[in-house]
Amino acid sequence: MSHSVRIYIGIVILIALSMLFLFSVVHTAAGASRPGSRMIAEGHRLARAWCQTCHAVEPHMIGLFDEAPSFQAVADRHGTTALSLKVFWRTSHQNMPNLVISPEQADALSAYILSLRGD
Ligand code: HEC
Repeated sequence: MSHSVRIYIGIVILIALSMLFLFSVVHTAAGASRPGSRMIAEGHRLARAWCQTCHAVEPHMIGLFDEAPSFQAVADRHGTTALSLKVFWRTSHQNMPNLVISPEQADALSAYILSLRGD
């Protein structure tokens, strides 16, 4: 094998390795953001199934219900955090039925509600 061919093969291997590295970095970054959007989608699904009868679950529904605050309004309110939402669901309230929400469902619902903030 001539010297230049060996250098050529070396460069090809180097490029292949760096592409592999780049791919794994991009892949990890995408993987890290996926659970968040999957959780928001799950929260959206749960909200439509359980909460829509009383709450405006999606922003375009604002104004259709008057008793329960819209999720958009809840999200925009100062002091609404994932924790404050979970505390609300775990304490008993007067006008809203006490729903049995698992911790995973609470995570998903709060992720969905907070995703509405500011739009
Ligand atoms: C039967 C009607 C009803 C259903 C179903 C319902 N809610 Fe409510 N919800 C209310 C009413 C009425 C209020 C306002 C009075 C209160 O705070 O108790 C409220 C308040 C809230 C608040 C607090 C807003 C604030 O003032 O901070 C949150 C958060 C909330 N609901 C989330 C949910 C979620 C999530 C679901 C579905 C899993 C749900 N609700 C289902 C009627 C309902």
